[in-house]
Amino acid sequence: MSASPVTTAGAPPIERLPVTLPQLVEKKQLGEPIVMVTAYDYPSAQAAEAAGVDVVLVGDSGAMTVLGYPSTVPVSVEEMLMLAAATRRGLRTPLLVADLPFGSYEASNEQAIATAQRFVKEAGADAVKLEGGGAMAERARALVAAGIPVMGHVGLTPQTATALGGYRAQGRTAERARGVADDALALQEAGCFAIVFEAIPAAVATLLMERVEVPVIGIGAGAATDGQVLVFHDLLGIREGVGARFVKRYADLGAEMAAGVRAFAEDVRTRRYPGPDHTYSIDPHELERLRRLLG
Ligand code: KIV
Repeated sequence: MSASPVTTAGAPPIERLPVTLPQLVEKKQLGEPIVMVTAYDYPSAQAAEAAGVDVVLVGDSGAMTVLGYPSTVPVSVEEMLMLAAATRRGLRTPLLVADLPFGSYEASNEQAIATAQRFVKEAGADAVKLEGGGAMAERARALVAAGIPVMGHVGLTPQTATALGGYRAQGRTAERARGVADDALALQEAGCFAIVFEAIPAAVATLLMERVEVPVIGIGAGAATDGQVLVFHDLLGIREGVGARFVKRYADLGAEMAAGVRAFAEDVRTRRYPGPDHTYSIDPHELERLRRLLG
């Protein structure tokens, strides 16, 4: 993969090299925050590339944000592969992690390996992510042994949100927090190169950070984690609704998009579009010949 030229006003372009797993470890050691964002297609990948993020996650949140499903559960491997391949085409430097969708890895180590290999071979993913500890740590171990880097995900795991009592913060009692810690440590022991902590109290995350040695990326887990991730559509305000407590909006693109399409519709209806600038011309002589040809 070639390096990506980065331009800053007035300065010569800096060649950015693809992000590697050891670089994420180095960032943790240096205390440099790791930036991860989701992307699901060519334009969102290009935005992540231009912003210079470290990791791009083709999250199964794409089931909801771009495919319109009510949860992440229904999305298929084929659909996720299409999103991941499109994202790959828009990326050069960030590490590309693809979510293994619900039902594509839980049944056996063989199933997990077969699915993950498709994401690496067909979509060009650098790594995969799976949700949960327990038996899923064994799936992670099998994937790592098969040569596929794995990112774990503990706390609120949306694929099994129903079993967790809904989309709510996890680890809010000592026992539940101990469960999150056990999951994280099992995933680390299984060889995960990084772990996502989702929707757990900041103080719990802070305690766990003393025990977890691999990079931890937080979403709704406070400021102590080694990095932060947000869903592309949440941070840019493309998704409807208020969103989770941890979402911070950096733009209001949903409103901008609707306003743009509304302005186009208005222009078409009032015949302001297309104008002379948007139309092709023809030599008057050729037009006259056409008139004669048409009789
Ligand atoms: O699917 C997703 O977007 C995720 C992030 C919230 C970590 O798993």
